[in-house]
Amino acid sequence: MNIKPDFRFRRLRKSAALRSLVRENHLHAEDFILPIFIEETLTERLEVSSMPGVYRYPEADLPEVVNAAYSAGIRAVILFGVSHCKDESGLDTLETEGLMARMIRSAKQTCPEMVVITDNCFCEYTTHGHCGVLDATGEDVDNDLTLKNLAKQAAVAAQAGADMIAPSGMMDGMISAIREGLDEEGFTHIPVMSYSTKFASAFYGPFRDAVDSAFKGTRATYQMDPANAREALAESMQDDLEGADILMVKPALAYLDVVKTISENTHKPVAVYHVSGEYAMVKAAANAGVIDEKSIVLETLLSFKRAGASLIITYYALDAVNWLSE
Ligand code: PBG
Repeated sequence: MNIKPDFRFRRLRKSAALRSLVRENHLHAEDFILPIFIEETLTERLEVSSMPGVYRYPEADLPEVVNAAYSAGIRAVILFGVSHCKDESGLDTLETEGLMARMIRSAKQTCPEMVVITDNCFCEYTTHGHCGVLDATGEDVDNDLTLKNLAKQAAVAAQAGADMIAPSGMMDGMISAIREGLDEEGFTHIPVMSYSTKFASAFYGPFRDAVDSAFKGTRATYQMDPANAREALAESMQDDLEGADILMVKPALAYLDVVKTISENTHKPVAVYHVSGEYAMVKAAANAGVIDEKSIVLETLLSFKRAGASLIITYYALDAVNWLSE
């Protein structure tokens, strides 16, 4: 039999109803995780200069910010502290009265229904800005000492009420160490969302403004080389084996090939972090009047779903839920 090579794709594009009938991917408010920055001692919210529309909030504003997000339809937030109690090791995060624990308690007390995620790392709490305890050279992080602190930090966060722990430091063995730390303290039910494939990326530039990072140096000794796709899969699969509940790729748009490969190799949920530089570039172009912000952002967010991510951490979360409900 001869099959005529004349399939007409346009038959299914004739009307909006037909197009939506065959649409493969959709964005929902539930897909988004909103990052929130809280700065100790701040009295008024402060716009991050490189990220118009993104603010550092005083601690006292956290309840209002969380409530507003929930009312808008956001169901998960990830909290970042801008610490004024920095030291060599980031010990403030191990204190039940430290900024990290206070933020978690405040968010949970305000809005128990909100999924409160904590960024499990030290870079916002160390004087040098590295993601853990420094080794003897003073220029790199001591992996195994940092693991011990990460496990403690995770337990402090869970104790404060965190619903999910998200380690972002790219230490080897971090998922095993954190899982063990949580389980030993009775938090066997608390999931870990690993920043399992995190690249040493220039796209994090504006974030360092946002958290007032003192960081100089390089993170290339622990974060991944942007050139490596096979290693990217190995990194995430290792965390999958160690018991990570959700795997993540960060940044997002420049690494969709990696998202795709990882999502084809795991049965766990995959998240992307649409990072500060990605936000800043779109904002700058939108403010310059050269792109249509809403269309660009929704198309970009949809590309993450198409590549295989089901969760999206994005500074555009609030705009996105508003645009989707228009
Ligand atoms: C901390 C952390 C970073 C980001 C999230 N968690 C910074 C970094 O690794 O340098 C970046 C987020 C963003 O750029 O939006 N480890």
